[in-house]
Amino acid sequence: MKETTTDKRVYTLPTKEEKFKLLKSKNEEAMQGGGPKRIEAQHDKGKLTARERIDLLLDEGSFEEIGKFVMHRCKDFGLDKQYYLGDGVITGYGKVNGRLVYVYSQDFTVFGGSLSETHAEKIVKIMDLAMKNGAPVIGLNDSGGARIQEGVTSLGGYADIFYRNTRASGVIPQISAVMGPCAGGAVYSPAITDFILMVEDTSYMFVTGPNVVKTVTQENVTAEELGGASTHSTKSGVTHFACRNEVECIQNIKRLLSHIPQNCEENAPFAEFGSDPEKVVPELNEIMPDNPNQPYDMREIIELVVDEGSFMEVHENFAENIVVGFGFLAGRSIGIVGNQPASLAGVLDIQASVKGARFVRFCDCFNIPLLVLEDVPGFLPGTDQEWNGIITNGAKLLYAFSEATVPRVTVITRKAYGGAYDVMNSKHIGADLNYAWPMAEIAVMGAKGAAEIIFRREIAEAENPEEKLQEKVDEYTEKFANPYRAAHRGYIDEVILPENTRKKLIKAFAMLENKVDTLPRKKHGNIPL
Ligand code: HXC
Repeated sequence: MKETTTDKRVYTLPTKEEKFKLLKSKNEEAMQGGGPKRIEAQHDKGKLTARERIDLLLDEGSFEEIGKFVMHRCKDFGLDKQYYLGDGVITGYGKVNGRLVYVYSQDFTVFGGSLSETHAEKIVKIMDLAMKNGAPVIGLNDSGGARIQEGVTSLGGYADIFYRNTRASGVIPQISAVMGPCAGGAVYSPAITDFILMVEDTSYMFVTGPNVVKTVTQENVTAEELGGASTHSTKSGVTHFACRNEVECIQNIKRLLSHIPQNCEENAPFAEFGSDPEKVVPELNEIMPDNPNQPYDMREIIELVVDEGSFMEVHENFAENIVVGFGFLAGRSIGIVGNQPASLAGVLDIQASVKGARFVRFCDCFNIPLLVLEDVPGFLPGTDQEWNGIITNGAKLLYAFSEATVPRVTVITRKAYGGAYDVMNSKHIGADLNYAWPMAEIAVMGAKGAAEIIFRREIAEAENPEEKLQEKVDEYTEKFANPYRAAHRGYIDEVILPENTRKKLIKAFAMLENKVDTLPRKKHGNIPL
């Protein structure tokens, strides 16, 4: 200390060195979060700390923290005696593979990562910066929800975040990893963002927890069953990726980012892939069984079409009758939507339609061209589907494709029946190029169903109805179970050998690179929600 004299008093002011020391000790204090005991408890649960997660996510040495010394302002319920620098969330910016991202990481060791007024303000601050500077926001969530001691100010903080999530939707990519509890209204921030990743066994999401469920519905259910990663990746579709552990979760975030531009003004990214763009892929000729009613795995086709090892499936275990994901095609990032004949014959139902529609809209928001691989026998019939709104939900997929202005290419590999032909990125709803394989069957319905309806009387009156039915099925098959009727009309631009699919698509997307298409002037459309 050094003495300073004024007219009346003698002050003892800290020296510069002491001020530096104070800063150092505050920095050290902030790095401790809720203290070593709570950090140990976090590790014992198989979870990393908020700072360890940021270290794993960002390029080494790139993290710049914002708001490290922020403290809560609550004086109730003993909080005036408990302060932690940073207030339970670490916020800032850094780089992932050299590209700018904004990040917040909730610190469960400080008040259970619960969200206070100031905790929310920190998140809001980096969201606002991300919007102004056009870069993704990544939220690493691990929180006991609203800071109970704070009451409504905490709720206000949540709403401030939800509002920004919504405003940022379609402007910058928003990715949420749920790495611990995420309950109550807190779930609605991740829900508004573009992608949710969850960690198996250590994370859960629900609007009301097992105790409330038991009181209200008398159901006995564990937190894991109610809202764990496996539940949300298979039953509800709330999460897009269920990850085996936190490291895998963070790797998936980085991989996902590699397919996505920084904001809605940027083009989709390129990645260096060494493979020959003129390559013919003879294995593609072998995948389709001769019998049109036998299944095959659409993923095999996708893997052979895109650059080797580049396919990243989204929603892998939910609505498996449709496959969606990202890939690179001669280095160009594309989004892929494929019917999956290996699951429910690739039929479109409510879940598949919603899954497909959400993915198509994401790609369209962020200038990622769309490839559709089509083998669809139609929409799923039944009371369950009708009563739960297959009409409204199927319309979502139709609307999403119709509205998309990114380059859009379709390959019909086999069936394209009924309304599903229209919906799956047909020429009529704005696709730029439509290819079909020689095995394609483009018709109102399958030949047997069609023959039974239009030749019902003739078949009934025949001496041998079964023989007659077969004769009519063959007639219908010959006329319609092929791609040529559609090709004659120009609904199909070219019938191609499967082995040429990759090189045709590479040329098609290169040709469409500068596509400009705009929607009619409007406030916003009214997608059938
Ligand atoms: C303040 C909280 C807290 C909260 C946990 N803590 N949740 N402090 N507000 N919401 C504190 C605990 O007091 C404890 O402090 C520390 O965090 C760790 O909590 P534990 O209970 O010891 O941990 P664990 O056993 O792992 O259980 C985690 C938990 C449980 C399941 C999340 O803490 C819990 O049920 N918390 C309350 C959840 C809740 O009801 N939240 C409000 C939901 S409503 P010490 O000092 O002992 O380490 C909501 C509305 C949002 O969020 C609406 C938005 C529109």
